Amino acid sequence: MSGPDTPAGRADDIPGFRHAGHALLDGVADYLAEVPSRPVWQPPPDALRERLLELPLPERAAPLDDLVATTLRDVLPHAMGNGHPAFFGWVNPPPSLAGVAASLAAAAMNPSVVAGDHADVYLERAVVRWLAELVGFPHSPGAGLLTSGASVATIVCLAGARGRALATVGRDARSGGLSGAPPLVAYVPAEAHSCIRRALELLGLGSESMRDVPIEGGRLDAATLRASIAADRANGAVPALLVGSAGTVNTGAIDPLEALAEVATAEGLWFHVDGAYGAFGVLDPAIAARFHGMARADSLALDPHKWLGVPVDAGCALVRRGDDLRDAFSLIPPYLRQDANAAVGTFAEYGLEQTRPFRALKTWATIAARGRAGIAAQVTRANRLARELATMVERERELELAAAPETSIVAFRARPPGCPAARLDDINRALPEAVQARGRAFITGTVFDGRETLRACILHPGTRTEHLATLVIEVVAAARALAAAEC
Ligand SMILES: Cc1ncc(COP(=O)(O)O)c(C=O)c1O
Repeated sequence: MSGPDTPAGRADDIPGFRHAGHALLDGVADYLAEVPSRPVWQPPPDALRERLLELPLPERAAPLDDLVATTLRDVLPHAMGNGHPAFFGWVNPPPSLAGVAASLAAAAMNPSVVAGDHADVYLERAVVRWLAELVGFPHSPGAGLLTSGASVATIVCLAGARGRALATVGRDARSGGLSGAPPLVAYVPAEAHSCIRRALELLGLGSESMRDVPIEGGRLDAATLRASIAADRANGAVPALLVGSAGTVNTGAIDPLEALAEVATAEGLWFHVDGAYGAFGVLDPAIAARFHGMARADSLALDPHKWLGVPVDAGCALVRRGDDLRDAFSLIPPYLRQDANAAVGTFAEYGLEQTRPFRALKTWATIAARGRAGIAAQVTRANRLARELATMVERERELELAAAPETSIVAFRARPPGCPAARLDDINRALPEAVQARGRAFITGTVFDGRETLRACILHPGTRTEHLATLVIEVVAAARALAAAEC
């Protein structure tokens, strides 16, 4: 057993690790079992918040048993809430149990997954191929890698787009940067996630390089888009990138990907699809056809840590041509030559990170524990629940649907009785926090179509009709309370 003279984490205290580890595993299993019967979320007690914030740096070693006890007592019970089946906030699922278990093994190996003849490297190559196969994206070795999430996957993909666009005008982004180059232009639909804009800002294109993409009611006005591209060309700019979403963050809408792919091909633009939330929706036979065109993209950003429930962090960048990323990122100093001349090379040649965590094990475990059929069933079920929630919303006089769900996100608004139209935006803006504080359901908000809107994202495999009903009851009750106080 570990004690004061066997400091936590000492490499040879395996008996102490085993003892504390068993207690941790039991505590984690108890926690996971209890989550559905606890409030979805409650603010931590003030004293705990303060204690955590003010934790003094310890001078002396603490026994591992104590660290486990602190973790189970002070940390696990005060989670974000996404383990609960009535959590509908943002795009945050519960973790897969297989992924939780694999995270321990991955940490025990603690490799840097860059290159070399070890299992983690091969497993990442296989898992990236699996992800491509799951969503029907063409894949060749090297044409993709795991990232911390879709935001980083997007930066990786758009770096490829930038390099290729500059090369068409005889410039090298790596040596010359953007200085003196003609401006690059990106065509980005209004509903695209903010990570696109952030990537364009970081890559030096600037947010002023963004042009809107005319999509109305799910249809692309290709003629107007092509006219805008022609105007940019006539002004000396270089149209570089066209973006589409395979599931927008606000409403889960799938952009007209085939029509976007057509324009990208005709105009020689890099076509990037943001599939962070929704790409796995292609596994639902009822909507698979809506994803036509996704496989034509030059790059696709995915998030196994969203719909699949791989423990955070697990994003993925897939590209049609691996060399587009290698051209953008490969830099091999003498001290990092391992595998550098191999046909595919090292992971560090395709992205931002040098030391890379073992994300593949939890991703492999999560996919393998369900198989393609299990994942497809989960995705299909979530979409069906979303349609069920939409029907509940439509039947409730004090709610209104903001958009018919295409995937597993339902956007809606409250209109409590007695509240004048002019006050509805304020009520809907305040609603998510009011619902969250009640502890029975968790929802978050956004602005959609210029109006404050609630959005429920269904990702939890344990969510059932009763949780949807609870959400509706909670939103109506919280909206009435807010209206009574403020209207
Ligand atoms: C559609 C979409 N794209 C991109 C992202 C960013 O992904 P990440 O948070 O993994 O960086 C999100 C996150 O919710 C998203 O919903």
